[in-house]
Amino acid sequence: MKGGGVSSTYPLPPSKRRWRGLAVAVFCLVVLSMLVPLVFLLSIHSGFQSTGFGSEDRSSTPSHKKYENYDPVEQEVPQIQSEVDKSTHLDNLMERLKPTLPKDAITIANDAANKTVRNDPLQVTAKPKTDSSPVQKEVPKPPPQEKQKGMSQVTEHDKGANSDETGKPCQLEFGSYCLWRKEHKEVMKDRVVKQMKDDLFVARAYFPSIAKLTSHDKMSRELKQNIQEFEKILSESTTDADLPSHMEKRLQKMEAIIRKVKSVILDCNNVDKKLRQILDLTEDEAHFHMSQSAFLYQLAVQTMPKSLHCLSMRLTVEYFKSQSLEMDISSDKYVNPLLQHYVIFSNNILASSVVINSTVMHAKESVKQVFHVVTSGQNYYAMKLWFFRNSYKEATIQVIKIEDFNQEHDVANPGHQSLSNEYRVSVHRVSKPQTTQMDTNYISVFGDTHFLLPQFFPDLKRVVVLGDDIVVKEDLSPLWSINMEGKVIGASYFCSLKLGQLKSYLGEEDFNEGSCSWMSGLNLVDLVKWKEWDITQKYHRLLQVVKQRTKVTSVNGVALPAILLTFEGLVHPLEDSWLLSGLGQSFKVEAQAIEKAAVLHYNGLMKPWLELGIPQYKAYWKKFLVRDDLFMSQCNVNP
Ligand SMILES: *[C@@H]1O[C@H](CO)[C@@H](O)[C@H](O)[C@H]1NC(C)=O
Ligand SMILES: *[C@@H]1O[C@H](CO)[C@@H](O)[C@H](O)[C@H]1NC(C)=O
Repeated sequence: MKGGGVSSTYPLPPSKRRWRGLAVAVFCLVVLSMLVPLVFLLSIHSGFQSTGFGSEDRSSTPSHKKYENYDPVEQEVPQIQSEVDKSTHLDNLMERLKPTLPKDAITIANDAANKTVRNDPLQVTAKPKTDSSPVQKEVPKPPPQEKQKGMSQVTEHDKGANSDETGKPCQLEFGSYCLWRKEHKEVMKDRVVKQMKDDLFVARAYFPSIAKLTSHDKMSRELKQNIQEFEKILSESTTDADLPSHMEKRLQKMEAIIRKVKSVILDCNNVDKKLRQILDLTEDEAHFHMSQSAFLYQLAVQTMPKSLHCLSMRLTVEYFKSQSLEMDISSDKYVNPLLQHYVIFSNNILASSVVINSTVMHAKESVKQVFHVVTSGQNYYAMKLWFFRNSYKEATIQVIKIEDFNQEHDVANPGHQSLSNEYRVSVHRVSKPQTTQMDTNYISVFGDTHFLLPQFFPDLKRVVVLGDDIVVKEDLSPLWSINMEGKVIGASYFCSLKLGQLKSYLGEEDFNEGSCSWMSGLNLVDLVKWKEWDITQKYHRLLQVVKQRTKVTSVNGVALPAILLTFEGLVHPLEDSWLLSGLGQSFKVEAQAIEKAAVLHYNGLMKPWLELGIPQYKAYWKKFLVRDDLFMSQCNVNP
């Protein structure tokens, strides 16, 4: 809107005056054209009030998981802030709210798998390395005032054919809340309310200009009256049903007065300024509401549901009441290397139960299976009682308390053991490096406690580590005959993220930049090789390296790069058909893929035991829940 510069102060010759009139008229048209996107902005705003639920806080709760964003790109976007950006930003907001859904995570991963990382922006942005200044912050969250720049950058591609990635800028900032919100958008009947907000917006913009003109005193008073009336009504109404009667008439009145005012005011500069002010305010407000809902969503997905907490308490109490029962019989089977040993790291009783139940239900010989549930002292007794009361075919179950083993590393991190880690990672599409198109995925990796495995099982040669957010759908015994070719672990590759993209975290360490990252959930572990390579030691050393480079002190904040580097070159890829990931993050996992997969992995925030779990995938999980359990019904557990 550089056209605004036409208004110079010195007198103009008549011919120029004509031009000036034209310029003013054009300018007014431009201002009016801005109002159209504003309608949308206002409607977005009211959309938030309707959801009123939902979002994301980056800080982790100790016993839960840490989600991070390894993409610092948003901060690197140059400071361009022209008027044009404003309106493209609005267009972009509209784009984002179209009811389209991103492609499912699996497709994306496979799609990107074959490409090189050469052009990846993540690498480009890892500049700080050269001057050895600290690398990116732990959580490179785009500061609020920069958000619109990031968004405007996407517009170009968003307007193109690819409407499937519209959630991107939202996801970078708010994570899976964006997907959840799309799924749960309520349709509101608020046509009139929106119209009112719109008119109010315009009236407010014109008011200061008309108030200055003393000759139009009456008109300005009338406008003010209308504004106040609308403000009052809108403060009490969010949908059309809330509105008082005869609104149509009042609307007409308002619009009539606006038309009159418009005909009087010729100088659009002030109106334009005012509009811009209001627009900024509204944007901030919209962002605020978004953050707020995103925070609530995050709270809901990271907090242990009350009923599960109750279950754990009830079981603990019951355990100590029933001391007379011999629950501590140890079994030779726990250490028999000829059996199939499965390890589950979990504090969630129901989740562990489902994993074990679904495994034994599909097992050809459950008598050969031994499950080791590794848990914290807090849940230990509840777990013990639970697995004493419930039987899973002929399988053997041992509950292990971490505190019995974890003396060594506790010093640096008292009272904290992560059972598993999940990271939100947004990666630029390699195929189109110019755009800011990104894939957001939740990568689950080992927690600190996984590195105690050789201590837990000094006599075993191989174990299979199962995530607590999986459901097994087939017999797992073929896993035991896989030839790992000398590698330490077996895992599903996740090639959208390569080690080279985490270079800035890893300092001068030597590694192959093309190495794929991998997922936990279903992992083979060769404990003999583990000890040979001294993996536990290596991990703790690399953890220190990353901590030093990033100046991040929390283990969770830096574990991902350290873990990936620890196992670099030591991962045997499992075939894709073993593990299907994404059921806790994508609403669009294909039914066919689910049908074929041996193990379903609910990585992401929307776990099946949560209210917010994705409804269409919950059934696979619930199927293996115990029925008619006394404690469950007492605690009203009904996931
Ligand atoms: C993967 O890359 C190879 C060589 O770079 C190419 O021949 C092949 O077509 C690619 N596959 C896919 C699925 O893109
Ligand atoms: C295991 O799952 C079956 C259904 O497949 C269910 O009937 C049974 O109660 C479950 N057992 C336990 C111990 O959870």
